[in-house]
Amino acid sequence: MDADNRRLILLDGKYNVSGQPPLWDRSSLLLRWSRGGGQSRWVVELIVNVELRLEYGQDTTRRSLRTFSWGGPSWEKRVRNSAKVRASNGFSVLVTGAAGFVGTHVSAALKRRGDGVLGFDNFNDYYDPSLKRARQALLERSGVFIVEGDINDQALLKKLFEVVAFTHVMHLAAQAGVRYAMQNPGSYVHSNIAGFVSLLEICKSANPQPAIVWASSSSVYGLNTKVPFSEKDRTDQPASLYAATKKAGEEIAHTYNHIYGLSLTGLRFFTVYGPWGRPDMAYFFFTKDILKGKSIPIFEAANHGTVARDFTYIDDIVKGCLGALDTAEKSTGSGGKKSGAAQLRVFNLGNTSPVPVSDLVSILERLLKVKAKRMVMKLPRNGDVQYTHANISYAQRELGYKPTTDLQTGLKKFVRWYLNYYKPGGKKSAV
Ligand SMILES: NC(=O)c1ccc[n+]([C@@H]2O[C@H](COP(=O)([O-])OP(=O)(O)OC[C@H]3O[C@@H](n4cnc5c(N)ncnc54)[C@H](O)[C@@H]3O)[C@@H](O)[C@H]2O)c1
Repeated sequence: MDADNRRLILLDGKYNVSGQPPLWDRSSLLLRWSRGGGQSRWVVELIVNVELRLEYGQDTTRRSLRTFSWGGPSWEKRVRNSAKVRASNGFSVLVTGAAGFVGTHVSAALKRRGDGVLGFDNFNDYYDPSLKRARQALLERSGVFIVEGDINDQALLKKLFEVVAFTHVMHLAAQAGVRYAMQNPGSYVHSNIAGFVSLLEICKSANPQPAIVWASSSSVYGLNTKVPFSEKDRTDQPASLYAATKKAGEEIAHTYNHIYGLSLTGLRFFTVYGPWGRPDMAYFFFTKDILKGKSIPIFEAANHGTVARDFTYIDDIVKGCLGALDTAEKSTGSGGKKSGAAQLRVFNLGNTSPVPVSDLVSILERLLKVKAKRMVMKLPRNGDVQYTHANISYAQRELGYKPTTDLQTGLKKFVRWYLNYYKPGGKKSAV
């Protein structure tokens, strides 16, 4: 084996610990024969973009390296049609993560009121992609096209901004979930940090620059013990890598606002649930496991402390997202140059009434008419916090945000959807 091959394998070992195929494709590697100082040698130049460098996680097959086909006149026509504004004074919104739980609901709501909506999603398999495809089919029926791509693909994002002068970006694409970070940390860095920067780079150069509303998370409060959580509380003690990447996102948002005049609003969602929800979340897999007769883990904190969440119903979250878009001021820059101070905001979007997880299970038992097999366990120290509780007075004042759905009512709607969706021949209900 010569020196060049050894170097390649060394890099391969560093970035691709699972023995998967190399992380780069041919276009990202350049082997150069260089002569100098009387010696000849191969020099390996890595021409990698942020995406490839940061995707060092074990499971490299699931996301960034997939190639998506895009472009061409009929593709551009679909993009334009989907983003076309139908209401007077409507917005033209790029929704990233549109095949996701929140993205689907927000896209549908924007479309219903006459805004132009273009979806964007990489359909990764963090959870069952067929659910994302079913959401896509639903959105397609209401006239929303989802472009398939990764937010790290700057050429694709740039093209979209050339085709459509988006007034707003609703950025919901992310690697969600707290515990999965122990399995695949790279996916959090890839989507929540590198991907966010990639998107902001395109937005700052766009002319006009769009206003951006994006999803942060209640998890940024981390080990903070002061409740209810207020936007002024400390957020420098994240308990998970997920939380750390969301916190990083808030700092990155500050930077792009400061340097480029981008209008940026971060929304800290508190445990969102509802129809078309995420299968990795407790209310969802509890339902599945209760129906299957499997036991479900109920965590308790030290000294039998109650674990509780400020569960927030999806329709309330959607109203908060629309309120944030409606009150977002214009970005002040153009073509990468700032011309004045721009709006920078962060809001809690919660329900203001934490419910113990054991109560969540009791409600599900009643709705499903099945007794759960409860397995009480100690809350593991792998990212989850004991308690979340939102102070929403700032969002109330600025966005007119006022959640109206209690957990019992919201879960009833979720269970109805779940039973219909997973029954043979289901998947037909509307958002
Ligand atoms: N659901 C909640 O309880 C909750 C709570 C706090 C914060 N959030 C945040 O809200 C947002 C939406 O969450 P959700 O529950 O709808 O999650 P979700 O996983 O259902 O949706 C995210 C979507 O983004 C897509 N995506 C991920 N990485 C991408 C990439 N690199 N390029 C393109 N698409 C990519 C995924 O395929 C997925 O469809 C996320 O930013 C999440 O972190 C959600």
